[in-house]
Amino acid sequence: MEDKAPLISFRDVNKIYAGDVPTHVLHDIDLDIYPGDFVVILGKSGSGKTTLLNLIGLLDAITSGTVEIQGREVKTIDDDERARLRSEFFGFIFQFHYLLPSFDVLANALMPCRIRGRKYEVEAADRVARMLRDVGLGDKFHSLPSQLSGGQNQRVAVVRAFANRPTLVLADEPTGSLDSRTTQQVLKLMHEIQAETGTAFVMVTHDEAMTEVANRVVELEDGRVIRDERTTAS
Ligand SMILES: Nc1ncnc2c1ncn2[C@@H]1O[C@H](COP(=O)(O)OP(=O)(O)OP(=O)(O)O)[C@@H](O)[C@H]1O
Ligand SMILES: [Mg+2]
Repeated sequence: MEDKAPLISFRDVNKIYAGDVPTHVLHDIDLDIYPGDFVVILGKSGSGKTTLLNLIGLLDAITSGTVEIQGREVKTIDDDERARLRSEFFGFIFQFHYLLPSFDVLANALMPCRIRGRKYEVEAADRVARMLRDVGLGDKFHSLPSQLSGGQNQRVAVVRAFANRPTLVLADEPTGSLDSRTTQQVLKLMHEIQAETGTAFVMVTHDEAMTEVANRVVELEDGRVIRDERTTAS
Protein backbone atom coordinates (compact mmCIF):
# COMPACT_ATOMS: atom_id res chain seq x y z
CA MET A 1 0.00 0.00 0.00
CA GLU A 2 2.71 2.46 1.02
CA ASP A 3 4.51 2.01 -2.30
CA LYS A 4 1.76 4.07 -3.93
CA ALA A 5 1.91 7.86 -3.73
CA PRO A 6 -0.56 9.24 -1.19
CA LEU A 7 -3.64 11.12 -2.38
CA ILE A 8 -3.52 13.40 0.63
CA SER A 9 -0.66 14.11 3.04
CA PHE A 10 -0.95 16.05 6.28
CA ARG A 11 2.28 17.09 8.00
CA ASP A 12 2.30 18.75 11.40
CA VAL A 13 -1.11 20.23 10.79
CA ASN A 14 -2.67 22.42 13.44
CA LYS A 15 -6.08 24.03 13.42
CA ILE A 16 -6.92 26.89 15.73
CA TYR A 17 -10.34 28.52 15.48
CA ALA A 18 -9.89 32.25 16.00
CA GLY A 19 -12.23 34.13 18.32
CA ASP A 20 -12.27 35.87 21.69
CA VAL A 21 -10.87 32.66 23.09
CA PRO A 22 -8.94 30.89 20.29
CA THR A 23 -9.65 27.14 20.27
CA HIS A 24 -6.79 24.83 19.39
CA VAL A 25 -8.73 21.93 17.90
CA LEU A 26 -6.14 19.85 15.98
CA HIS A 27 -2.57 19.26 17.14
CA ASP A 28 0.37 18.18 14.92
CA ILE A 29 -1.63 15.89 12.66
CA ASP A 30 0.37 13.60 10.35
CA LEU A 31 -1.84 11.58 8.07
CA ASP A 32 -1.51 10.01 4.64
CA ILE A 33 -4.48 8.71 2.69
CA TYR A 34 -3.66 6.21 -0.06
CA PRO A 35 -5.62 5.13 -3.15
CA GLY A 36 -8.10 2.41 -2.24
CA ASP A 37 -7.96 3.10 1.51
CA PHE A 38 -11.15 2.68 3.53
CA VAL A 39 -10.27 4.76 6.57
CA VAL A 40 -12.51 5.11 9.59
CA ILE A 41 -11.62 8.07 11.81
CA LEU A 42 -12.94 7.33 15.25
CA GLY A 43 -13.30 9.77 18.13
CA LYS A 44 -15.62 11.10 20.78
CA SER A 45 -17.83 14.12 20.24
CA GLY A 46 -15.65 17.24 20.16
CA SER A 47 -12.42 15.36 19.37
CA GLY A 48 -12.02 17.22 16.06
CA LYS A 49 -13.37 14.74 13.50
CA THR A 50 -15.51 17.14 11.47
CA THR A 51 -12.76 19.76 11.60
CA LEU A 52 -10.28 17.24 10.18
CA LEU A 53 -12.67 16.05 7.48
CA ASN A 54 -13.37 19.65 6.42
CA LEU A 55 -9.63 20.26 6.12
CA ILE A 56 -9.17 17.11 4.03
CA GLY A 57 -12.04 18.21 1.75
CA LEU A 58 -10.67 21.76 1.30
CA LEU A 59 -13.79 23.14 2.98
CA ASP A 60 -11.69 24.98 5.58
CA ALA A 61 -8.08 26.20 5.89
CA ILE A 62 -5.34 24.90 8.18
CA THR A 63 -3.61 27.20 10.69
CA SER A 64 -0.10 25.72 10.34
CA GLY A 65 1.67 22.76 8.79
CA THR A 66 1.33 21.49 5.24
CA VAL A 67 -1.29 19.62 3.28
CA GLU A 68 -0.56 18.10 -0.11
CA ILE A 69 -3.11 16.73 -2.49
CA GLN A 70 -1.55 14.35 -5.02
CA GLY A 71 1.83 15.90 -4.25
CA ARG A 72 0.72 19.53 -4.70
CA GLU A 73 0.76 21.83 -1.74
CA VAL A 74 -2.79 23.00 -1.12
CA LYS A 75 -1.66 26.53 -0.21
CA THR A 76 -0.51 27.06 -3.79
CA ILE A 77 -3.85 26.08 -5.33
CA ASP A 78 -6.05 29.00 -6.42
CA ASP A 79 -9.78 29.34 -5.73
CA ASP A 80 -10.94 28.11 -9.14
CA GLU A 81 -8.81 25.00 -8.95
CA ARG A 82 -9.95 24.42 -5.38
CA ALA A 83 -13.59 24.57 -6.49
CA ARG A 84 -12.81 22.17 -9.32
CA LEU A 85 -11.15 19.72 -6.91
CA ARG A 86 -14.13 19.94 -4.56
CA SER A 87 -16.50 18.97 -7.33
CA GLU A 88 -14.34 16.43 -9.20
CA PHE A 89 -11.73 14.94 -6.87
CA PHE A 90 -13.97 14.66 -3.80
CA GLY A 91 -17.40 13.21 -3.09
CA PHE A 92 -19.12 14.18 0.14
CA ILE A 93 -21.65 12.40 2.34
CA PHE A 94 -22.93 14.29 5.37
CA GLN A 95 -24.88 13.22 8.44
CA PHE A 96 -28.05 14.60 6.92
CA HIS A 97 -28.55 13.85 3.27
CA TYR A 98 -29.08 17.44 2.01
CA LEU A 99 -30.97 16.25 -1.04
CA LEU A 100 -32.69 19.04 -2.95
CA PRO A 101 -36.40 18.78 -2.06
CA SER A 102 -37.81 19.78 -5.44
CA PHE A 103 -35.67 17.38 -7.49
CA ASP A 104 -36.47 13.69 -7.83
CA VAL A 105 -34.16 10.84 -6.79
CA LEU A 106 -32.48 10.47 -10.18
CA ALA A 107 -31.87 14.22 -10.55
CA ASN A 108 -30.48 14.46 -7.02
CA ALA A 109 -28.10 11.56 -7.59
CA LEU A 110 -26.93 13.15 -10.85
CA MET A 111 -26.59 16.66 -9.38
CA PRO A 112 -22.75 16.67 -9.05
CA CYS A 113 -22.53 15.72 -12.75
CA ARG A 114 -25.10 18.35 -13.76
CA ILE A 115 -23.11 21.01 -11.89
CA ARG A 116 -20.00 19.95 -13.74
CA GLY A 117 -21.67 20.18 -17.13
CA ARG A 118 -24.39 18.72 -19.30
CA LYS A 119 -22.12 16.22 -21.04
CA TYR A 120 -21.08 14.72 -17.69
CA GLU A 121 -24.71 14.29 -16.75
CA VAL A 122 -25.43 12.45 -20.00
CA GLU A 123 -22.31 10.31 -19.61
CA ALA A 124 -23.21 9.36 -16.03
CA ALA A 125 -26.94 8.73 -16.48
CA ASP A 126 -26.81 4.96 -17.08
CA ARG A 127 -24.13 4.34 -14.47
CA VAL A 128 -25.98 6.33 -11.78
CA ALA A 129 -29.27 4.64 -12.65
CA ARG A 130 -27.54 1.28 -12.24
CA MET A 131 -26.15 2.27 -8.84
CA LEU A 132 -29.60 3.39 -7.72
CA ARG A 133 -31.04 0.04 -8.83
CA ASP A 134 -28.23 -1.78 -7.01
CA VAL A 135 -29.11 -0.01 -3.78
CA GLY A 136 -32.77 -1.00 -4.07
CA LEU A 137 -34.17 2.25 -5.42
CA GLY A 138 -35.02 1.06 -8.91
CA ASP A 139 -38.68 1.96 -8.47
CA LYS A 140 -38.02 5.37 -6.86
CA PHE A 141 -36.27 7.30 -9.65
CA HIS A 142 -39.07 9.83 -9.89
CA SER A 143 -39.93 10.12 -6.20
CA LEU A 144 -39.13 13.27 -4.28
CA PRO A 145 -36.98 13.09 -1.12
CA SER A 146 -40.08 13.89 0.97
CA GLN A 147 -41.67 10.68 -0.34
CA LEU A 148 -38.79 8.45 0.84
CA SER A 149 -37.64 7.15 4.21
CA GLY A 150 -34.51 8.47 5.93
CA GLY A 151 -32.51 5.39 4.97
CA GLN A 152 -33.66 5.58 1.35
CA ASN A 153 -32.65 9.24 1.17
CA GLN A 154 -29.27 8.45 2.66
CA ARG A 155 -28.76 5.75 0.03
CA VAL A 156 -29.43 8.39 -2.66
CA ALA A 157 -26.82 10.60 -0.95
CA VAL A 158 -24.30 7.73 -1.06
CA VAL A 159 -24.89 7.20 -4.79
CA ARG A 160 -24.65 10.97 -5.36
CA ALA A 161 -21.22 11.05 -3.67
CA PHE A 162 -19.91 8.49 -6.18
CA ALA A 163 -21.71 9.91 -9.24
CA ASN A 164 -18.75 11.92 -10.55
CA ARG A 165 -16.34 9.00 -10.06
CA PRO A 166 -14.40 10.91 -7.41
CA THR A 167 -10.95 9.84 -6.26
CA LEU A 168 -11.77 10.28 -2.58
CA VAL A 169 -15.14 10.15 -0.82
CA LEU A 170 -15.47 11.84 2.58
CA ALA A 171 -18.31 10.91 4.92
CA ASP A 172 -19.21 12.62 8.20
CA GLU A 173 -21.32 10.36 10.45
CA PRO A 174 -23.23 9.23 7.34
CA THR A 175 -25.48 6.93 9.34
CA GLY A 176 -25.86 9.24 12.33
CA SER A 177 -29.54 9.79 11.74
CA LEU A 178 -30.45 6.16 10.98
CA ASP A 179 -31.57 3.18 13.07
CA SER A 180 -29.19 0.26 13.54
CA ARG A 181 -30.66 -1.94 10.83
CA THR A 182 -30.62 0.82 8.21
CA THR A 183 -27.13 1.78 9.40
CA GLN A 184 -25.96 -1.75 8.57
CA GLN A 185 -27.52 -1.53 5.10
CA VAL A 186 -25.98 1.84 4.31
CA LEU A 187 -22.59 0.74 5.67
CA LYS A 188 -22.64 -2.40 3.53
CA LEU A 189 -23.62 -0.34 0.55
CA MET A 190 -20.80 2.18 1.02
CA HIS A 191 -18.39 -0.70 1.36
CA GLU A 192 -19.64 -2.44 -1.78
CA ILE A 193 -19.53 0.67 -3.96
CA GLN A 194 -16.12 1.56 -2.57
CA ALA A 195 -14.73 -1.93 -3.24
CA GLU A 196 -16.21 -2.02 -6.72
CA THR A 197 -14.98 1.42 -7.80
CA GLY A 198 -11.66 1.37 -5.91
CA THR A 199 -12.40 4.87 -4.66
CA ALA A 200 -10.62 5.85 -1.45
CA PHE A 201 -12.99 6.48 1.41
CA VAL A 202 -12.67 8.36 4.69
CA MET A 203 -15.51 8.16 7.18
CA VAL A 204 -15.62 9.83 10.58
CA THR A 205 -17.75 8.43 13.37
CA HIS A 206 -17.93 8.01 17.12
CA ASP A 207 -19.23 4.45 16.63
CA GLU A 208 -16.61 1.72 17.09
CA ALA A 209 -18.87 -0.77 15.27
CA MET A 210 -18.29 1.14 12.02
CA THR A 211 -14.66 0.08 11.98
CA GLU A 212 -15.61 -3.43 10.89
CA VAL A 213 -15.65 -2.44 7.20
CA ALA A 214 -12.44 -0.38 7.38
CA ASN A 215 -8.96 -1.47 6.36
CA ARG A 216 -7.53 1.31 8.45
CA VAL A 217 -8.56 2.89 11.73
CA VAL A 218 -7.36 6.31 12.88
CA GLU A 219 -8.41 7.43 16.33
CA LEU A 220 -8.57 11.05 17.47
CA GLU A 221 -8.57 12.17 21.07
CA ASP A 222 -8.65 15.85 21.97
CA GLY A 223 -7.42 16.73 18.49
CA ARG A 224 -4.47 14.33 18.42
CA VAL A 225 -4.03 11.06 16.52
CA ILE A 226 -3.65 8.39 19.20
CA ARG A 227 -3.99 5.35 16.92
CA ASP A 228 -3.36 4.71 13.22
CA GLU A 229 -3.44 1.08 12.25
CA ARG A 230 -4.22 -1.14 9.34
CA THR A 231 -6.76 -3.83 10.10
CA THR A 232 -7.48 -7.04 8.22
CA ALA A 233 -8.09 -6.05 4.61
CA SER A 234 -11.84 -6.21 4.20
N1 LIG B 1 -16.24 27.20 13.84
C1 LIG B 1 -15.77 26.91 15.07
N2 LIG B 1 -15.33 27.87 15.91
C2 LIG B 1 -14.84 27.58 17.12
N3 LIG B 1 -14.73 26.34 17.62
C3 LIG B 1 -15.16 25.33 16.84
C4 LIG B 1 -15.70 25.56 15.53
N4 LIG B 1 -16.05 24.35 15.00
C5 LIG B 1 -15.74 23.44 15.94
N5 LIG B 1 -15.20 24.01 17.04
C6 LIG B 1 -14.71 23.33 18.23
O1 LIG B 1 -13.75 22.39 17.83
C7 LIG B 1 -13.84 21.19 18.58
C8 LIG B 1 -13.96 20.01 17.64
O2 LIG B 1 -15.18 20.13 16.91
P1 LIG B 1 -15.58 19.08 15.78
O3 LIG B 1 -16.86 19.54 15.21
O4 LIG B 1 -14.44 18.89 14.85
O5 LIG B 1 -15.77 17.76 16.67
P2 LIG B 1 -16.35 16.34 16.26
O6 LIG B 1 -15.33 15.33 16.65
O7 LIG B 1 -16.79 16.36 14.84
O8 LIG B 1 -17.63 16.20 17.22
P3 LIG B 1 -19.07 15.49 16.95
O9 LIG B 1 -18.84 14.01 17.09
O10 LIG B 1 -19.91 16.02 18.06
O11 LIG B 1 -19.55 15.89 15.60
C9 LIG B 1 -15.02 21.36 19.51
O12 LIG B 1 -14.52 21.71 20.78
C10 LIG B 1 -15.79 22.51 18.90
O13 LIG B 1 -16.43 23.26 19.90
MG1 LIG C 1 -18.65 16.18 13.88
